[in-house]
Amino acid sequence: MNPITEFTRPSRDVMAGIAEDVARVEVALREAVRSDVPLVEDVGRHTLDAGGKRLRPAFVALSAKAVGRPYDPNRAVQLGACLEMVHMATLIHDDVIDHSDTRRGRPTAAALFGNTGSILSGDALLAKAMVILADDGDLAIIRAVSRAVVEMAEGEALELATRGNFELSEAEHRRILRMKTASFVECCCQVGARLAAADDLVRDGLTEYGHHLGMAFQIVDDLLDYRGDREATGKPIATDFREGCATLPLIALRDRLSDEELAVVCRKFGNGVADDELRMIGEWMELRGAYAAAEEAAQAHVRAALEALSPVPTSDAKILLQEIATFVLRRDA
Ligand code: IPE
Ligand code: IPE
Ligand code: MG
Ligand code: MG
Repeated sequence: MNPITEFTRPSRDVMAGIAEDVARVEVALREAVRSDVPLVEDVGRHTLDAGGKRLRPAFVALSAKAVGRPYDPNRAVQLGACLEMVHMATLIHDDVIDHSDTRRGRPTAAALFGNTGSILSGDALLAKAMVILADDGDLAIIRAVSRAVVEMAEGEALELATRGNFELSEAEHRRILRMKTASFVECCCQVGARLAAADDLVRDGLTEYGHHLGMAFQIVDDLLDYRGDREATGKPIATDFREGCATLPLIALRDRLSDEELAVVCRKFGNGVADDELRMIGEWMELRGAYAAAEEAAQAHVRAALEALSPVPTSDAKILLQEIATFVLRRDA
């Protein structure tokens, strides 16, 4: 809900720089969602006005700064806006897929404008992002973003194909997390590195950081789906269980239940679970250590993200990247 500038809370100079960058991205986004077609502009504005952490443009700017070489800040702003617009389009479509009526504490585009209007407007926003990308014109960046968008869409499609599969393997689940979330965060960091002309070692370090940060981020998102505060997340609770989407807390719980308990959870999975049943499942996740197992998985990715930064020169930007990584574990939104 809060922009990244309030989200991490360290009081360093680099914070002011990032806040300024993100504010400039905001102006670019308002410009970019303009359309002669009212539905497209309304959906874009609604999604922007609802807030969001603006994590992806922050990663572009921070990765560029962390390289420690001069770069064109206007390109960072435009590419940050491009990547946030891709993210917006993804969320608009994701809420149709997940039948979600709330995001960022407001009704979803689907709830306000309908599924068809949301799908079409999401497509228009995605295509507008591609125009910004083409205007920048850096072929390596165009290639990286296009590939990440393919991965993200295929990850969502793969996840859809697993709906209702209570037996989903942890390996297959992790593959989905990598495709639908980590590949795009990775891309944001890589774009920042590329626009500051990082050498291969630094670029690969920032890219790997993005991958692990993205994995940790989505695992925490999936924990928050079960035990988060909907006031803080701005999203409905237990969408994953209701929609029959197996995530790490559930996958970890499967090995920690008796056959009778397992049969109950399996019967309710994606199948009209009541609130008190959800509460019981949440208690089992807590008491049997399923939440702890998912937390440990997120922590392992945060450790790997920090490790990946070792080729990146010391700077305030690097420190902030490190702080964001550890903050991901504590986030509530
Ligand atoms: C939500 O992303 C979708 C996931 C990948 C978990 P964010 O949590 O970054 O969403 P906003 O932009 O802050 O709303
Ligand atoms: C995130 O998936 C959407 C993408 C990364 C494409 P989720 O469905 O888990 O995200 P939320 O919880 O709705 O934000
Ligand atoms: Mg969703
Ligand atoms: Mg989803």
